[in-house]
Amino acid sequence: MSKTASKPKKAAAKDKAAEEHLVPIFVMGKRYEVPDSLTIQKALEYAGYQLVRGCGCRGGICGACGTVFRYPASYRIEVGLACQTVVQPDMYIAQVPFFPGNKAVYDIESLPAVGGTIAALYPEVFKCVGCGTCTRSCPMDIDVLGYISKAIQGDIAAVAEGSFDCVMCGLCASRCPAEEVQYNIAVLARRLYARHIVPKAKHLERAVKAVEDKAFDKALRELKAKSLDELKKIYKGLETEPDMADDSWAPQDKSYLGE
Ligand code: SF4
Ligand code: SF4
Ligand code: FES
Repeated sequence: MSKTASKPKKAAAKDKAAEEHLVPIFVMGKRYEVPDSLTIQKALEYAGYQLVRGCGCRGGICGACGTVFRYPASYRIEVGLACQTVVQPDMYIAQVPFFPGNKAVYDIESLPAVGGTIAALYPEVFKCVGCGTCTRSCPMDIDVLGYISKAIQGDIAAVAEGSFDCVMCGLCASRCPAEEVQYNIAVLARRLYARHIVPKAKHLERAVKAVEDKAFDKALRELKAKSLDELKKIYKGLETEPDMADDSWAPQDKSYLGE
């Protein structure tokens, strides 16, 4: 049997590109053709943009990649995270890497943990018209209107718990007709809640004390003295939490849990 020569790398890459289905998108008004399997973020890079702003974790967690887009056949403005939204043909795209939102300045230690504190620092919360645009805009499926309603009622705990998954993308604020900056209101509530309302976590106190007692210093010194290969071996051998672990899961080696 004769041996078939393998294709040169460049030709193989060309074939792969030909197999991809390209669709047109418009980035800030300029037309590009990009594979239809890409997220907006990857499509921007495919089109030649270098993302130095509006890009962080690439995994839907940091909220840096807020993006506004529109389809030609629709009057609607759509929003989403560029790292999570897959391109569609004829999408018009513009990024919102930063939204200039109102941000109160305060010292959390001296703020009273009462509902009136939210109203005092963000009086515009009462301007909410209950339209629900914020909830419809939220890529994290948070009931934003729900937590803003609780902020109006002064229910700090409900705002803190209801906004827990917020990634601070700013998309809710960018669309709010009442010019609320929902995520900063939520941050205030979570800070008040964590600092003054919920009891301090015992395990956190233990962990902080362990750091202060230099419990990790020897292990850190040993790690810093290891070679790259040794570090790789240790890393690969680490016991990791299973995907479906429940709250009772704990590693077998508890030496560094401060318990
Ligand atoms: S978008 Fe603004 S006005 Fe509308 S419900 Fe949300 S916070 Fe209220
Ligand atoms: S609440 Fe607002 S800032 Fe937070 S994730 Fe939702 S849209 Fe983004
Ligand atoms: S890059 Fe972090 S959420 Fe998209």
